[in-house]
Amino acid sequence: MDFTRGQAWGLLTEYNKEPFHLRHALTVEGVMRYFAQALGYGGETDFWGIAGLLHDLDFEQFPEQHCIKAAELMQARGLDARLIHAVVSHGYGITADVRPEHEMEKVLFATDELTGLIGAAALMRPSKSVQDMEAKSVKKKFKDKKFAAGCSREVIRQGADMLGWTLDELVEKTILAMRVDEQAINKAMG
Ligand SMILES: [Fe+2]
Repeated sequence: MDFTRGQAWGLLTEYNKEPFHLRHALTVEGVMRYFAQALGYGGETDFWGIAGLLHDLDFEQFPEQHCIKAAELMQARGLDARLIHAVVSHGYGITADVRPEHEMEKVLFATDELTGLIGAAALMRPSKSVQDMEAKSVKKKFKDKKFAAGCSREVIRQGADMLGWTLDELVEKTILAMRVDEQAINKAMG
């Protein structure tokens, strides 16, 4: 794919200005890169990362057409159909009827909402960090329906099932993934 990470960042920031959204995009990018390597897709690390970076491309400006608009914007730029499929499939059962098929798409589906929950849980800690966070404290927050209520527990469970992982495995691996880039993202976001 000749669409570079720099070009993807350019596209993202054309449609996204909110720090919250940019931070989320960077977080999911880092998580996707981690899983590409961890799951044996090291040669596709950039591709997995770009899918993570762009997955919510349309959400800030077109929340009502989430995933649909992203596909339009990406098609208009002639981007890889695989990338578009991956982005659209993260809205499966919510805003889109494109099912996550590839392992990369399942990881994106499973970790998108979970990174929000883990990030919110991290902010409750004295360190405000995932570095010293354990899966069991995330599991506690997972069960507290009022905590970060916008992060769909159903989607997270469904994502774990798609991957054939237990919820505990998914949480543990996603914490490890988020540890890698946390500092760099904090720095980038000031
Ligand atoms: Fe997202």
